[in-house]
Amino acid sequence: MLVDVRPVSRLRGKDPVDVTAALGPAVEALCASAVDLSRVSLVCDWIQYRSSFREVADYRPVLAPWRGGAEAEGAGTGLEPQPEPPAEATLEIAIDLRRCADTDLRAAVTGLLDEHADPGSSTRVPLEPWVTGRHSCIWGFNALYWQALSHWEQATGREYEQALPGGESDARNVAAVRELILEIFKTWDDLDARSALPPELYVVELGVGNGNQARTWLDEFVELSRAHSRDYYRRLHYIMCDYSPHVLGRALKAVAHHGDHVSTLVVDATRPAVSLGFLRGKAFLVYVSNVYDNLPSDEVACIGGHTYQVEVRAFLPGADAARIAQRFSAPPQRVAELADKLLRLGPELLCEAMPQHFGGTGQAVAFWREVWAALRLQERYRPLRALDLYQVTPDLNGELLRSQLESHGDIRVHVSNGALGSFAGTLPLLHPFGRLLCHDLFVDDVRRYHSGFFGPGKYDGSVVNWVNGPLLRHIGGRAGFDVRISPFTARPSSNIKTLTAAVRE
Ligand SMILES: C[S@@+](CC[C@H](N)C(=O)[O-])C[C@H]1O[C@@H](n2cnc3c(N)ncnc32)[C@H](O)[C@@H]1O
Repeated sequence: MLVDVRPVSRLRGKDPVDVTAALGPAVEALCASAVDLSRVSLVCDWIQYRSSFREVADYRPVLAPWRGGAEAEGAGTGLEPQPEPPAEATLEIAIDLRRCADTDLRAAVTGLLDEHADPGSSTRVPLEPWVTGRHSCIWGFNALYWQALSHWEQATGREYEQALPGGESDARNVAAVRELILEIFKTWDDLDARSALPPELYVVELGVGNGNQARTWLDEFVELSRAHSRDYYRRLHYIMCDYSPHVLGRALKAVAHHGDHVSTLVVDATRPAVSLGFLRGKAFLVYVSNVYDNLPSDEVACIGGHTYQVEVRAFLPGADAARIAQRFSAPPQRVAELADKLLRLGPELLCEAMPQHFGGTGQAVAFWREVWAALRLQERYRPLRALDLYQVTPDLNGELLRSQLESHGDIRVHVSNGALGSFAGTLPLLHPFGRLLCHDLFVDDVRRYHSGFFGPGKYDGSVVNWVNGPLLRHIGGRAGFDVRISPFTARPSSNIKTLTAAVRE
């Protein structure tokens, strides 16, 4: 039996975790069961998020290679018909060390092993079939959150920014914004001196939220532009992009005093070139904060020398499904269907379509919040036949994961599919003297995956996954860009880091 304790930094210091006390009951439960102990591993994480998709303990089958045909590999989309699961090679028992002190782990693990031995006895209510992480319905919930943000915020009495690290967006930090603008002025002055400055000066922001960071940036720009004697503000076009028209409308109000200098565009940040192709080679700054960590991601793993895709299946624990069903006058087996309708219609139309369950928008929002709070992800590992057959984005295949998966022993990493698509699609938009600047949660060294948990977690109604920084560096380097990930200078202790990409000199 293998025991893998990942949060090693918590094993020493002021308030160390008592791993023995935590794991003893889990090992006892395993020993008392009929499971083949030589094929079990006990994997311990520290899930730092107050709300996450994990139970305190769960099991994750590691599937044996499937010999039934190529389609059985899932081909990375997660949308193909699901073949019968192949046999299981080994079994992972996953434990959250942060919460296990309050749980009877022996009973929990015994229950899990019983369920594993007899899947028909499971009380979980699945919300979807097995899919890869980026195709899970959690991303439908994430999109709904941004599409119907005001309803959610009204119900919770909290603005989304309060859930971000530090309680507000770092993109609002005035000192950092001024430093950035002055650096851009310097580039423009140099180009102007060579009569090479274009008449239109484009700045793009992807994922604008409430528009507070755009307002900070534009207000500081006006002030610095005035002091700088050249009238760069007159030539400035600030394009706010988001996939949520609701968010764009709200952000536009925050910068209304900048009039025609600002425009909005509905853009899928994972494929920016689709709507922003007209800017190819023209953007002096593409500004992205707290967005990459909010884009869909798969996870892949190397276990015992083999590569696997992490498959997930969203579910509601039986007791939660029963409680929610009772509150909204539905039989428990219909909760999954109501959740699906919510994702398709949004809360306003849902209550119009199903007045027998939801008396008004408030009730539909209450249903949404209850389902989201209870939602968990079951996981299993499906063997990947070949990395080059795994499509990371429409233009990138899994070969780029090879060195991360083959050089660090057993490891599980984020693929950051959405962030990679966004990053690779943004670089061509940059002016040769332009830059991409991104404040976000980056894992800057792949070895950190050995000792930390980096998502997915829940921020209110949205999803957060740290971004696999070395993959972005690799893609940028290949395209001729210098990519740096450094501490956020205005708050160096923060987990937020700053990524910059500019054409290599
Ligand atoms: C956490 S907020 C960050 C907002 C702001 N940049 C900040 O720092 O406060 C994430 C933003 O990204 C947007 N977003 C998420 N996924 C997106 C996608 N695929 N395409 C475009 N925008 C997206 C959301 O609508 C939201 O406005």
